[in-house]
Amino acid sequence: MLIEETPYVREKLDGFGSALKHPFAAVVKQQGRRFQSAFEWCSGIGEIGMTLLRKDLCTRLCLSDINPEAIKIAREIAARDELTDKIDFFVGNNLSAIPASLKFDLVVANPPNYFNIQPAHPFGKLYANDLRPNDRGWKLHEEFYATIGAHLLPDAVMLIEEVEPYKKEVFFHHPSGYTGPYDVRDEIPMSAFERMTSKNGLKIKDVSLLTTSDGVAIYVLKIVAA
Ligand SMILES: C[S@@+](CC[C@H](N)C(=O)[O-])C[C@H]1O[C@@H](n2cnc3c(N)ncnc32)[C@H](O)[C@@H]1O
Repeated sequence: MLIEETPYVREKLDGFGSALKHPFAAVVKQQGRRFQSAFEWCSGIGEIGMTLLRKDLCTRLCLSDINPEAIKIAREIAARDELTDKIDFFVGNNLSAIPASLKFDLVVANPPNYFNIQPAHPFGKLYANDLRPNDRGWKLHEEFYATIGAHLLPDAVMLIEEVEPYKKEVFFHHPSGYTGPYDVRDEIPMSAFERMTSKNGLKIKDVSLLTTSDGVAIYVLKIVAA
């Protein structure tokens, strides 16, 4: 069995990148360029980024995540697939581990997507302290948009996945029949992301539907220099 398909990795480290990697690669391909230096922010085990390398959509890749275990697995996958020479691996909070000298022409991400996971929701209990879904108050996003500019080449494109960015509440069906929201946002996330990008010299150029899962819409925001 492939490392990334073992039950432990799927249950504890996969943040849905296994399902998103091919649709994501299709969106990267649509940009009509071969990128020189790609960065997967909040990479986990790096499935999205490594798919771009395998499909020859980028030349080099940088992976960074706060979870050392995820990066350890990313290293193992890269070694198996003889991709190690093309990847820089970092462990750290947000962008803190990325050297100032590293610049990117592509940033991709499936970051934590939920603002205030509800403890009353049966999945909420399960994921309350899980690093993968939680970005309480959008603190991680806020800091990312304030600091990523220093790592962007002039023609850089960022493709950032977001869950239901036009909705203040996100609902997931649960077999128990629970009907309350899983996530509650204080405003539609697009308003927050527009504010964060515009105040940091960036603009959301395009928003496209990537896929839907269990009736929940997953979009990609294309962000470039303003
Ligand atoms: C939704 S998961 C996505 C993982 C992977 N990109 C995928 O698609 O499966 C979000 C990732 O963000 C990481 N993360 C959470 N908080 C972080 C932080 N403060 N700095 C860096 N990474 C963080 C988690 O460890 C997790 O791997």
